[in-house]
Amino acid sequence: MNNVLVNVAWPYANGPRHIGHVAGFGVPSDVFARYQRMTGANVLMVSGTDEHGTPLLVQADKEGVSVTELADRYNRQIVEDLAGLGLSYDLFTRTTTRNHYAIVQELFRGLYDNGYMLKETTMGAISPSTGRTLPDRYIEGTCPICGADGARGDQCDNCGNQLDPADLINPVSKINGETPKFVETEHFLLDLPALAEELTAWLQTRNDWRPNVLKFSLNLLSDIRPRAMSRDIDWGIPIPVEGWEDNPGKKLYVWFDAVVGYLSASIEWAHRSGNPDAWRDFWTDPAATSYYFMGKDNITFHSQIWPGELLGYQGKGAKGGTLHRLGELNLPTEVVSSEFLTMSGSKFSSSKGVVIYVKDFLKEFGPDPLRYFIAVAGPENQDTDFTWDEFVRRINNELANGWGNLVNRVVSMAANNFGKVPTPGELTEADQKILDLAEQAFDVVGEALQHSRFKQGITHAMHVVGEA
Ligand code: MF3
Ligand code: ZN
Repeated sequence: MNNVLVNVAWPYANGPRHIGHVAGFGVPSDVFARYQRMTGANVLMVSGTDEHGTPLLVQADKEGVSVTELADRYNRQIVEDLAGLGLSYDLFTRTTTRNHYAIVQELFRGLYDNGYMLKETTMGAISPSTGRTLPDRYIEGTCPICGADGARGDQCDNCGNQLDPADLINPVSKINGETPKFVETEHFLLDLPALAEELTAWLQTRNDWRPNVLKFSLNLLSDIRPRAMSRDIDWGIPIPVEGWEDNPGKKLYVWFDAVVGYLSASIEWAHRSGNPDAWRDFWTDPAATSYYFMGKDNITFHSQIWPGELLGYQGKGAKGGTLHRLGELNLPTEVVSSEFLTMSGSKFSSSKGVVIYVKDFLKEFGPDPLRYFIAVAGPENQDTDFTWDEFVRRINNELANGWGNLVNRVVSMAANNFGKVPTPGELTEADQKILDLAEQAFDVVGEALQHSRFKQGITHAMHVVGEA
């Protein structure tokens, strides 16, 4: 059996989804999963809402609700957005389930036992006026790597690099604009340098990835350092180490837990399906393949942190170690990342009001126009500007006039003249040509979709429509 795991990035439950989000992870993953199912593959497609971390805390503060209330609210909204778009998940769960906590802690313990979690004293930010710790996302400054302004303490959206708040140039608190003070604090760091050799060897075998994604991922290896996997924060998964577990002010870093979601969701799905071991077909069968869909700001976490967690858990880095309870788990076959969908040149952003929400789009047009547009004209290999003109042109000319008319005319002609599909007469040369073209298109389009080359596949399919 051809087991194909389709892992879709987990949206933060901090707001409704906009079309930039679903252009990155949503539509591409669903086109891929549906294609795989049509070929007869055994597909498992999982995701859920990402409910920890400062993104949730910041929004809960803004809305004046508790973080759990916020997570419930937006989990529901996001489920509605994604279901409305027709995304065909086998399971869409949440990172606040008991199962997820248990699997995340299992991964952490495996890494810790094998020596890949380093306890270190690091510099953490606090607010000088309140004395409270300032989580990464509350700090903004200039990126030390690319020089862009508005980089956050955890990551620069401009160049995609992970950052430590202490690296930012001219850091300021987003809450009140004051300059944070840095004080010593203990954390667990994932020993990525000890995993670098294995990570490099693995990435070097991944030469059929989209060139941008592979290049970016290989580049990350040149600045590989231990990364903090815990935070001074009260919302998150407890750190399963004595003396830490009950500390209300220290939790696992949201990204440590979120990427484990693919595995925990697969395990949850297996339990629900009545065969608790069924997840192993997708994770421990070496012949199984796994594809991860996301926007490019997530690449780091999928091509370095997550494979690093997997390698360390099974004792495969420079420090060795032993295999733990879940066994030997497959590394990603492919990290399929999109670039950004922009609007008038800027990134979609709910906070900056540059936004078209999925729910508004669906109300106006239904799912098919958006799915078609993203698949054929989305940001597959480069940042792509969304314009209403282009949307209207594509939908009217291609989807309605091209495909819609073809189907409508053929079907109504047959219905009106024959009342059924007529028996073909003798085929002319032109008939044979179009039949051959259509036949061959299954291979051409299939080959493209198999490699997540959606534009190419759909463009060819529409070429056949044009000929017909
Ligand atoms: N919540 C993250 C974001 O919206 C994505 C997490 S993907 C995960 O950018 F798989 F790691 F969960
Ligand atoms: Zn940068």
